[in-house]
Amino acid sequence: MGGCLLLSTTIGRADLLNEAQSLFAPIPRYPQALEHNPTTTEKVELGKMLYFETRLSRAHNISCNTCHQIGRAGADGRSTSLGQDWQHGGRNAPTVLNSVFNAAQFWAGRAADLKEQAGGPIANPVEMGITPDEAVVQLKGIPSYVDAFDKAFPA
Ligand code: HEC
Repeated sequence: MGGCLLLSTTIGRADLLNEAQSLFAPIPRYPQALEHNPTTTEKVELGKMLYFETRLSRAHNISCNTCHQIGRAGADGRSTSLGQDWQHGGRNAPTVLNSVFNAAQFWAGRAADLKEQAGGPIANPVEMGITPDEAVVQLKGIPSYVDAFDKAFPA
C-alpha cells in the first residue's frame, strides 16, 4: 500500500513538472531592446540616481527604494507600504526585480509596461506625492541631474 502511494505521488509530480515546463520558460538573459530608446551606460546610471532619489517626494524622505528595497529582494516586507505622511497604501509592494519581463505591471495589470508604470508612484498622493511638473522643476534645480540628463539624452 505504501508502495502504491509512493508510485502515484511520483507520477503526479512528473505530470506537474511537464505541465509547468509547458507553461513557463527561463527568463531571458537580457531584456528586449526598447524601440527608439537603446540602453546606454549613461541612461542606466541616471536610472540608478533617480531610483534612490528622495528629493522626488514631497517631504524629501521617500524614494523608489523605500518600498522596493534592492537589499530586500526589491520589496519592503510590509503587508502594505508606507508612503508620504506615513500613509498606508492599499496594496502590497511587489518586487521590482525582473519586473521588466512582466506581461503587465501592478497587481491588476493596469500598466502595460515599465514606461507606462514609471510615472505613477511619483504622482501618487500616498506614495511620493508630487506632480510631474514639480518633479521636472526639482530635477532642473540639481546640477548633477542636468548633467546626467544631458549625457543620457544628448539630443
Ligand atoms: C510608498 C511605496 C512605494 C513607492 C515609493 C514606490 N512604489 Fe512601486 N509599488 C508600490 C505598490 C504598493 C505597488 C503595487 C500597486 C498596485 O498593484 O496597484 C507598486 C508597484 C510597482 C511596480 C509594478 C511591479 C509588478 O510586479 O507589477 C513597479 C515596476 C514599481 N512599483 C516601481 C516603482 C518605481 C520605479 C518607483 C519610484 C519612482 C516606485 N515603484 C515607488 C509601492 C511603492
